Amino acid sequence: MTILVTGGMGYVGSHTILELLTQGYEVVAIDNCSNSKPAVLDRVKKLSGKDISFYKTDLRDKKGLDEVFRTHKIDCVMHFAALKAVGESVEKPLFYYEHNLNSTLALCNAMEKYGVTKFIFSSSASVYRSDNLMPLTEESVAGDCINPYAWTKFMCEQILKDAAAVNSDWSVAVLRYFNVIGAHESGDIGEDPQGVPNNLMPYIAQVAVGRREYLSVYGDDYDTPDGTCIRDYIHVSDVAAGHVAAIDYLAKNKGVNMFNLGTGKGTSVLEFVEAFEKASGITINKKIAPRRPGDLPIGYASVDKAKRELNWTAVKTVEDAAADTWHWQSKNPQGYEA
Ligand code: UD1
Repeated sequence: MTILVTGGMGYVGSHTILELLTQGYEVVAIDNCSNSKPAVLDRVKKLSGKDISFYKTDLRDKKGLDEVFRTHKIDCVMHFAALKAVGESVEKPLFYYEHNLNSTLALCNAMEKYGVTKFIFSSSASVYRSDNLMPLTEESVAGDCINPYAWTKFMCEQILKDAAAVNSDWSVAVLRYFNVIGAHESGDIGEDPQGVPNNLMPYIAQVAVGRREYLSVYGDDYDTPDGTCIRDYIHVSDVAAGHVAAIDYLAKNKGVNMFNLGTGKGTSVLEFVEAFEKASGITINKKIAPRRPGDLPIGYASVDKAKRELNWTAVKTVEDAAADTWHWQSKNPQGYEA
């Protein structure tokens, strides 16, 4: 069975390719490499002992995409390729809409043309409206997003619903990730953000290796037990396994179905720092800073639907993820660049 993975050189894409290869799937990967390094491909091949077909092309390049579909008989598409920096999306909304929507549309059109009907979409918990009760279920209200990045995910979900409504052969799994963290246990692939990291785990990891001076804890006066925000952090290898579980699901189910990929457990920023310190043996310099605009006090998933219907559940803890991130970061202090 051949899986086309877009954004295959990215953080979640590369871990998912490794999981697919380990489980015996054939992989065709596409990436424009705008936010990834060529070293990823070699490392994934080395870790798996297997080869993949790789195309350095942009999904919006119609000719390039057509060549991929013409050359390979694709059984299922996993679509990770997207711009994902929330702050940048606020500054350059048109760029984000243009990129994320047109690449998804190009992919859907190519699937239609070549009769591919199975699609797994990399969505985000940020599509949920901020006034939902916790935990967030797939029935919680989505929309009214707070930044253009989240809107692009919400709009792509809508595109998929509309496309599947007129083509009854389509089977789509929309996977709404919570906060993805960690690295492959080998320490050879991991998250390698360009510039100053926006997210908590990569920021802490860079403080640990001395690339950043201290962590700013954004607010300690929230209405939570220790005053810092609570999130549902999920290990990237669990997220990768969730995608593989979705392949089996699509073999038996048509239409569009949403799934939360989370752990169902909330962790505060201070608990998170503590887990990292325990795993690495390094004390993280930190300062309490003002709240970051747009942050919700608490967000965590209900994972019942994924457990019931995908037969998938996260098995790794925040401590596991901290240990794996530390392994990756200490082995690769400058990321893939070194
Ligand atoms: C963010 C995005 C979300 C995206 C997700 C994964 C926003 C508002 N949301 O989620 O759309 O899907 O990343 O890419 O940007 N924190 C600090 N100091 C830091 C960094 C973070 O205290 O230097 C805190 C934040 O205030 C938050 C928690 O750590 O409470 C997690 O932050 P982050 O990793 O950025 O994820 P989210 O904001 O939850």
